[in-house]
Amino acid sequence: MTGPAGDAPGRPGSRTGGPRGAQPPGCILAIETSCDDTCAAVVTAEGELLSNRIASQGLLHSRYGGVVPEVASRRHLEVLDAVRADALETAGVTLSDIQTVAVTRGPGLIGALLVGLSSAKALAAARALPLVAVDHLHGHVVAGTLGPDALEAPYLCLVASGGHTFIARVDDPARYTVLGSTLDDAAGEAFDKGARLLGLPYPGGPALDRLARGGNGEAFRFPRSAPATTGGRDLDFSFSGLKTALLYKIRDLGEAETERRRADLAASYQRAIVEALAARVRQAIERERLPRLAIGGGVAANSELRERLRTVCEEAGVLISVPPVELCTDNAAMIGAAARFTPAIPYPEYLDLDAAARLP
Ligand code: KG4
Ligand code: ZN
Repeated sequence: MTGPAGDAPGRPGSRTGGPRGAQPPGCILAIETSCDDTCAAVVTAEGELLSNRIASQGLLHSRYGGVVPEVASRRHLEVLDAVRADALETAGVTLSDIQTVAVTRGPGLIGALLVGLSSAKALAAARALPLVAVDHLHGHVVAGTLGPDALEAPYLCLVASGGHTFIARVDDPARYTVLGSTLDDAAGEAFDKGARLLGLPYPGGPALDRLARGGNGEAFRFPRSAPATTGGRDLDFSFSGLKTALLYKIRDLGEAETERRRADLAASYQRAIVEALAARVRQAIERERLPRLAIGGGVAANSELRERLRTVCEEAGVLISVPPVELCTDNAAMIGAAARFTPAIPYPEYLDLDAAARLP
């Protein structure tokens, strides 16, 4: 699979030049509503980050134990205008300073995406501005290209979030080539499902990370996925067997013993996910021989993963770029970052552009 930088999705012929030549000018207002975070940001075409505002719906969905798509869309609708106004104010600009509007087109929850896309189209069309339709995953891949210590291609990138897990090669920030990805659950999903089995609240990743700090990661041996042995690519992942292994272990231990060993279970389960990710990263570094590794996605906030990948990179003599957590989890700054490398669609060609739950 190769990432974007082709024609604007669904609009053959709407490309306004080569990926670099088509960089949108000036101040970019970016909007991201692909899942359960309502996000707006202002970045410049040069990669300066002026604001990055996020209204998380975490608490709203926690009572259901996961994201409810209908609830997410309605909440985006309620708060997006306020989040956008906040992003502009924090950046010290007004709508009249904005020269390009960028928005996540997909992948994600279709209803949630449509709220952001409709709002972005309206904002752009009212001023006859160009619109950039961004691939959410491209955003995760280039999030680190913002700010004073901007990440520069070429690099390898591990993206591990609640919906996606893949390793990509980035020779040019306008595109990325996926070298391996999960065949079933995403790493964040594995964290969330494991956390649920251990009685932790949604979203379980951060809670499991905290619980694991007091446990022994070698106390239990959970399977490390190896899809290559069952027909997958060398760098593919598989996490679905892991949660089943935890479920059986909890059943075997019984209620009282599970309660007593919760921290050990969390630490051992986390160790299996981290080792699976670290093993593929090590393989990719050896094979691709790129000078730097960048990490992104919500799971990049995991303390053990950060430490483990630092060691892997140090041993391989490769630099590691770990963006601040607010650029790893879903945010609109990364959508603005990707917009810098994506052809803009001129007004009014984007008016019938549709959102896409999945991108090719
Ligand atoms: O990138 P993100 O904010 O949203 C998606 O695009 O999915 O990632 C959210 C995921 C959730 O599954 C959450 O449990 C996980 O990232 N996560 C963590 C940690 N912080 C967030 N997983 C493990 N350890 C963490 N500290
Ligand atoms: Zn994401």
